Amino acid sequence: MSGPGKTTVVIGGASGIGLATARELLAHGHFVVIADIDGEAATARAAELGGTSEGASVDVSDEASVAALFDGVLERHGSFDGVVNCAGVSTLSLVVDHDVAEFRRVVDICLTGAFIVLKHAGSRVADGGSLVTLSSLNARQPGVGLVAYCSAKSGLEMLTQVTALELAGRKIRVNAVSPGLVVTPLTAPAMDIPGIKDDYIANTPLGRSGEPEEIAAAIRFLLSDDSRWITGENLDINGGAHMQRYPDIHGHVMKAFG
Ligand SMILES: NC(=O)c1ccc[n+]([C@@H]2O[C@H](COP(=O)([O-])OP(=O)(O)OC[C@H]3O[C@@H](n4cnc5c(N)ncnc54)[C@H](O)[C@@H]3O)[C@@H](O)[C@H]2O)c1
Repeated sequence: MSGPGKTTVVIGGASGIGLATARELLAHGHFVVIADIDGEAATARAAELGGTSEGASVDVSDEASVAALFDGVLERHGSFDGVVNCAGVSTLSLVVDHDVAEFRRVVDICLTGAFIVLKHAGSRVADGGSLVTLSSLNARQPGVGLVAYCSAKSGLEMLTQVTALELAGRKIRVNAVSPGLVVTPLTAPAMDIPGIKDDYIANTPLGRSGEPEEIAAAIRFLLSDDSRWITGENLDINGGAHMQRYPDIHGHVMKAFG
């Protein structure tokens, strides 16, 4: 199926790229389960979007919660065809100063959480289904002060490929998308710090930040049968920024706040 009639779960769907993905999939005829750690926001977004959607609560770092999400979808809908995992968080600290609990928190959500999602989605999604993970430009470009996020996203790319290999026998495809800078609630606070956005854009050949809808369109493609021979792939969506250097976010923050 290319869209109409598919049931797709969007995790981290209450905000930013996930919300834009939910909107895009609804416009293309999917039934969309918007799941988020903020279950109330997920339900509210589903009500606002209307159409064939519903909200649900999930914490990707909690295995029982993830299993319950997919079991609930199976109970209510019989089967599902796709999952997009947009749940993610970041933090800023130099390696030598890094709080270990904070490092673990980011890895727990961005990497271990993604593993838990692929584990429970992979065992339940319909044969021929499609799973999409959200990696980042930071999986290939190191950023000063971003060790937890960079490490988690880099690991996520190998997690995506290993899962793609293991699920290929059931014709389930597993791919990642790697956005560059997209202004969402995750990145908006950094955008107010002088120099950060300008530095990003100076290092982006196409000369601007991205829109959540531009990431959502690529995710829809990877969920659709138009991408039926693509698996284990990571799609960079960043205006060409992967060909240049990553801005020194920590340096800009230090300049602004001392
Ligand atoms: N915005 C960017 O520039 C950018 C760039 C590269 C990669 N990404 C990745 O894209 C994904 C979406 O980012 P965004 O910018 O839309 O962020 P966002 O903060 O707008 O959305 C993230 C969503 O994930 C949810 N979430 C957080 N922890 C969760 C958990 N434990 N379980 C379930 N849901 C949880 C949040 O409640 C939120 O709704 C993230 O994985 C992020 O790392 C974003």
